[in-house]
Amino acid sequence: MIKELVRQFNQIFGDDGAKPRTFFAPGRVNLIGEHTDYNGGYVFPCGLDIGTYAVVRIRGDQRIRMMSHNFNDRGVIEYDLNDVTYDDAHDWANYPKGVIKVMSDKGWPLECGFDVLYYGNLPHGTGLSSSASIELVTAVMLKALFNVETTMLDLVQLAQQAENDFVGVSCGIMDMFAIGMSKQDSAILLNCHTLEYQYSPLKLEDASLVITNSQKPRSLADSKYNERRRECERALKDLQRALNIATLADLSPEHFETYQHLIKNDIDRKRAKHVIYENQRTISAVHHLQAGDVQSFGKLMNASHVSLRDDYEVTGDELDTLAQAAWEIAGVMGSRMTGAGFGGCTVSIVKDGALDSFKDYVGQQYREQMGREAEFYVLNVGDGAREII
Ligand code: GLA
Repeated sequence: MIKELVRQFNQIFGDDGAKPRTFFAPGRVNLIGEHTDYNGGYVFPCGLDIGTYAVVRIRGDQRIRMMSHNFNDRGVIEYDLNDVTYDDAHDWANYPKGVIKVMSDKGWPLECGFDVLYYGNLPHGTGLSSSASIELVTAVMLKALFNVETTMLDLVQLAQQAENDFVGVSCGIMDMFAIGMSKQDSAILLNCHTLEYQYSPLKLEDASLVITNSQKPRSLADSKYNERRRECERALKDLQRALNIATLADLSPEHFETYQHLIKNDIDRKRAKHVIYENQRTISAVHHLQAGDVQSFGKLMNASHVSLRDDYEVTGDELDTLAQAAWEIAGVMGSRMTGAGFGGCTVSIVKDGALDSFKDYVGQQYREQMGREAEFYVLNVGDGAREII
C-alpha cells in the first residue's frame, strides 16, 4: 500500500527523484473510562492498526500543498506557510493546518513548505478518532522533517491545542494521548489530570476485541459534547462551594452519595454521577484485567454502557440496540459504546468461538430494529504515531 501511495504522490505532486517520507498514526478505541478525560479522571484506550498515512516531501519555497485520498473531490489544497488560518473551504485540511499553526506560534523552525498526501483507512466519522489521527501524523511528520527536539507528550498536547483552539472542538486529551503513545497489544491506563500512565497488556485468552460500527454518522463539533462539558462544569462548581476538589474525579462514589445534594440541577447531578462512578469502574476494571479476570472487566464495560445510557445520555437507539443484542449472546464478555457517543461504534469482548454468531445475531437485530447495516472489525492493537521506514 505504501508503494502505491508513493506512486500516487509522485503523480499528483510530480517526481523530482527525491524519495518522499512516509508516516502513520493509528486511530483509537477506548475500552472503558468514557467522558472522564475532561473531568480529570482515568481512561483506558488503545491504538489500532488502522489509521492515517502521510506521504510527504519538503519544497524549496514556502508553499504547502495537501491532498487527501479520502476527500479526492476537494482536490489539492494550497496555501502559504506564513498564512495558516482556519478556512471553511479547506474542510478536512483544517486539522493538519491547526497543528502547523500551533507549531509556528510556538516558534518551531518550520523552515519551508512541503507537499503531502494523506490516506486514512479508518471508517470515517465513526468515533475512532480520525481527526486526532491526522493531527498526530502531521505532528510526527513535522518533527521529523524539521529535526525538532521534542517529546511525544509535547506533540500530543500540541495536537489537542490545535483541535481546541484552531478547529474549535473542546475535546479532552484521551484521543491524542492514545494515538501518540499506543503500544502493540497493550492498552493505556491514563490519569488525565496528572498525565501519569501505565501500559497494561491486553491478555484476553481465547477472546477478541470487536468494533461494531453503527454507521450512524456522528459529528463531535455539532454534537451535544460541549453541552455535557458545561453540565459537568456546573456540577463541579456547585460541589466546590462546600468541598475542596479540583475535578469531579477527585470524588469517590461514597463522597458523591454524601454530597450530591449540593448539585442544584437534577441533570447536572446525573452527569456528575456517571463521571464519578465511571472513574471508579475504570480503575477496578483495569485491576481485574491485570489479575486475569476478563469476565469482571467485561461486566464493568456493560455497566459503563448503562451509565452512559441512563445518566450521561449519550448513547441513542442505535448504540443501545447494538449493546443490548451483544449482551444476549453467551460468548460476549462485555460490550459498550466507545468514544463520545451519539452514534459511532461499540466495542465488545467476544470469545473466538462466538465471533460468527456475534456478527450474525447483532447484525440481524440491528437490521430489524434500526433498518441499518452494522459493520464489524476484529481489532488489532498497534503502536503509536511514527515514521514508516
Ligand atoms: C471524544 C473526545 C475525548 C473524550 C471522549 C469521551 O472522543 O475527543 O476527549 O472526551 O469523546 O470519552
